[in-house]
Amino acid sequence: MIGSPLLDVANLSVTFGSGPAAVRAAVGVSFTLEAGRTLCLVGESGSGKSVTALAVMGLHGKGAHVAADRLALAGESLTGVSPARLAAIRGREISMIFQNPMSSLNPAFTIGYQIAEAIRLHEAVDKAAARRRALDMLEHVRIPDARRHLDSYPHALSGGMRQRAMVAMALACRPKILIADEPTTALDVTVQAQILDLIETLQREFATAVLLITHDLGVVAEMADEVAVMYAGRIVEKGPAAALFDAPAHPYTEGLLAAVPDHRSARKERLSEIPGNVPVVNREIPGCAFAPRCARARPVCAERSPRLEAIAAGRASACLRRAEIEAERAGHVLPCREDRHA
Ligand SMILES: Nc1ncnc2c1ncn2[C@@H]1O[C@H](COP(=O)(O)OP(=O)(O)O)[C@@H](O)[C@H]1O
Ligand SMILES: [Mg+2]
Repeated sequence: MIGSPLLDVANLSVTFGSGPAAVRAAVGVSFTLEAGRTLCLVGESGSGKSVTALAVMGLHGKGAHVAADRLALAGESLTGVSPARLAAIRGREISMIFQNPMSSLNPAFTIGYQIAEAIRLHEAVDKAAARRRALDMLEHVRIPDARRHLDSYPHALSGGMRQRAMVAMALACRPKILIADEPTTALDVTVQAQILDLIETLQREFATAVLLITHDLGVVAEMADEVAVMYAGRIVEKGPAAALFDAPAHPYTEGLLAAVPDHRSARKERLSEIPGNVPVVNREIPGCAFAPRCARARPVCAERSPRLEAIAAGRASACLRRAEIEAERAGHVLPCREDRHA
C-alpha cells in the first residue's frame, strides 16, 4: 500500500495473566518506522521494550495477551494473520536478533548450514545455491576466512563472531526490517562498536529499517534517527534523536541523559543513576508511573495520568507538567524541595 509506513504500530498492549495480578507489560504503545530508518526503543530494564518487540514479531508466548488497534507491515495487517503467513513474514520481511546469539544459533549445526536453511525456508533455491548465499553473507558481515567458517560450529566462534553470524542469518533474506534487541549488551566495548558499525553498513547497503532496542544512550546517540523512550510499559517521549538529545521534554528522558556524563561518547554507562526501579504495572492506577522517582513531580502527578501529546513536529511527551517545566527551564529555575511539596 502506497503511503503507509513500513511498520505501523498503534495502541499496542501486552498483558500477562488476568485479574488483579495481571502484568500490563506494554500499554498503548504506538510508533511507526520508515524504510531505511533507525528507531531506538530506550528505557531501563523492565520497561517493556522486549515485550513490545516480541509482540510485533508475533513471538510473544502463550501467556501473553496482545491487542492493537493497528499492527501492520507495509500496509498488511499482522493481527489475525494465519500462522503460516506469519511464519512466511518472519525471517523474510522482518527478522530479529537478540543479546545472546545462541538463542538463534543451534549448537548442533554448522553456521553455513543454518544460514543456508534460513534461506531455503523462504526461497526456492537448491542447497548449493543456498550455501553460496550463506558464504556471501558471512563475507558481508566480515567474518574472516568465511569459507572455512561456513563449516564451523557456533561454539568454535568468539562472541563477536557469533553475533556477526547471527546478523548474517537475520539479513540473509534481505528483510525490510531488522529488530535488534540489545544486540551488543553482552559484548565488550570494542566489539560492540564493530557490531553497531556493521549493522549500520548493512542497513545502508540493503536499505533495511532497524528497530533497535537498548538501555544504552550511547548506542542511541550513535544509531538513532528517531527515539521512543519507554517507562513502565508506555512510551513517555518520542521524537527525532537530535531534538530529543538537545532538549529532552520528559523528566525521565532528562534523568536518563543526566545519568550519562557525556552521552555522545560514554557507551559503557548504564542507566542506573535515577534512584529507584521501574515499577511492574498491575492495574490501571491513577497518576504518572514515573512520579515516585521524578525530581519534578507535584501532587497532581499522583492523581492524573498523563497522555502522550504532540509538543512539536514529530515530537511527543507524556508529562502533566510539561508547560510548567518548559517555563522553569527557560527561566533556569530548578525545582527545589519546597516547590515540590507546595
Ligand atoms: N512471560 C512473562 N510473564 C510475566 N511477565 C512478564 C513476562 N515477560 C515479561 N514480563 C514483564 O513485563 C515487563 C517488561 O519486560 P521486558 O519487555 O522484558 O522489559 P525490557 O525489555 O524493557 O527490559 C517486566 O515487568 C517483566 O517482568
Ligand atoms: Mg529486554
